[in-house]
Amino acid sequence: MIKTIATKPYDDQKPGTSGLRKKVPVFQQENYAQNFIQSIFDSLEDFAGRTLVIGGDGRYFNREVIQIAIKMAAANGFGKVMVGKGGILSTPAASNLIRKYKAFGGIILSASHNPGGPTEDFGIKYNTSNGGPAPEKITDAIYARSKVIDSYKIFDAPDLDLDAIATLTLGDMIVEIIDPVADYAELMEELFDFPAIRNLFGLGFQMVFDAMSAVTGPYAKEIIERRLGAPEGTVRNFTPLPDFGGHHPDPNLVHAKELYDEMMSGGDAPDFGAASDGDGDRNLIIGRGIFVTPSDSLAVLAANAQLAPGYSKGIAGIARSMPTSTAADKVAEKRGIGMYETPTGWKFFGNLLDAGKVTICGEESAGTGSDHVREKDGLWAVLLWLNILAVRGESVEDIVTQHWATYGRNYYSRHDYEGVDSDAANGLIAALREKLPSLPGTKIGDLTVATADDFAYHDPVDNSVSRNQGIRVLFAGGSRVVFRLSGTGTSGATLRVYIERYEPDANRHNLETQAALADLIAAAETLADIRARTGRDAPTVIT
Ligand code: G6P
Ligand code: ZN
Repeated sequence: MIKTIATKPYDDQKPGTSGLRKKVPVFQQENYAQNFIQSIFDSLEDFAGRTLVIGGDGRYFNREVIQIAIKMAAANGFGKVMVGKGGILSTPAASNLIRKYKAFGGIILSASHNPGGPTEDFGIKYNTSNGGPAPEKITDAIYARSKVIDSYKIFDAPDLDLDAIATLTLGDMIVEIIDPVADYAELMEELFDFPAIRNLFGLGFQMVFDAMSAVTGPYAKEIIERRLGAPEGTVRNFTPLPDFGGHHPDPNLVHAKELYDEMMSGGDAPDFGAASDGDGDRNLIIGRGIFVTPSDSLAVLAANAQLAPGYSKGIAGIARSMPTSTAADKVAEKRGIGMYETPTGWKFFGNLLDAGKVTICGEESAGTGSDHVREKDGLWAVLLWLNILAVRGESVEDIVTQHWATYGRNYYSRHDYEGVDSDAANGLIAALREKLPSLPGTKIGDLTVATADDFAYHDPVDNSVSRNQGIRVLFAGGSRVVFRLSGTGTSGATLRVYIERYEPDANRHNLETQAALADLIAAAETLADIRARTGRDAPTVIT
């Protein structure tokens, strides 16, 4: 029943920031997914008889690849696979299952917030036994293997029925089809003060959660409406669709504009608005009349986490990706706890979390999470916000403005130039890199460059070094501009420019963000020659 199939290697299976992401037609090439999955298995050791968790965000091609992955796991000697019913598992729920059931690892099928459909995006990611994305050592090995692979193993059997909870067998391997929500909901119930949140909803607190026709729908329905008693209708777009209803399941101000407009509509707006992305690891937080930037959200959550039962002993430390604003640093400083700055990519938090150095992590790209799993977790962030709102009894706006008054405000914005010619984008970064040594001390308008470098991360746990992680230009007074190329795009290059200004004075906390950053935006153009090099007059997306 186990077949060994001859195959030819592809040369483009290099995992990016978060696994291998390509357009569906690329994945539909002969043996493309099989090659990559076999390359994963070939890069691992000692998994015979162990458990593998498999699930995805329900996007187009999810079901086909799940069947392949199950059959290949059986042929390669896994003892058991745990699969979410219907092939569904949110990324944080998969991470929880790996940890809870001491699985060897997991395969998560997702392209996160990217659109889905026959010509849209798909992805395969491997997570290790700690529940987190494989570290570079493993993803490098997978890539190396994918370039020379000449065969793969697969169990020859008809497709399994994934739509009923059941325990099946495939040869010697057990296939457990599980409720994708139950274990995750139980974990959330342990971490947060559900009675307090239930009470808040009982008082008439109004919330809107937009699941964006993606994976968090069933999770949010169960937790927010059933367990926390929010009125039916609180969770919108809750049925996961293969093409996410034709939308980008990306919870930002562009793709969740309807929610944003509703939250900004004045006194009748709901108290709290939130959304999550395709695979459930990102979050968007909006209060009545106020959007909370992911960087500010990280800082507020870190400063208030002790209000939730799961964090009542306080937090050990905070980590953020380098381009994320330094708002959280102010909290860590005041608390006298550790603060870590890592490259973009959740995988870099894994070692710090495993070593107990940090409890809460976050990224400007709308990811926040804690040591409860090893992925960022959209619903977790929403529930921690709800817990804080329930205990403090204040509005989102009050909590955020008080936070700024205490710690200062970090005005923050990201300008993306999507689909830029790759050579032009690489040329822009190379030119900046060349300029770095000459920058300190130079004046751009009223700004003086204090330091400038190409960020390199020295992991304090395993001593590994990751270089070329983004160009940082820091100005006197704590403002900065960061340039890097996205590692998650599937066509051309995306230039990201991250702009931040620190403002300690509470009398100046009410400025419009782009206006508050105008001199830094101009400085970014002067430094990098963005218009000339990319041929673009303006960013594609401003968040
Ligand atoms: C994914 C990763 C994040 C990362 C984000 C942006 O969501 O899981 O860790 O911050 O992509 O990455 P990019 O390379 O596109 O800026
Ligand atoms: Zn995601």
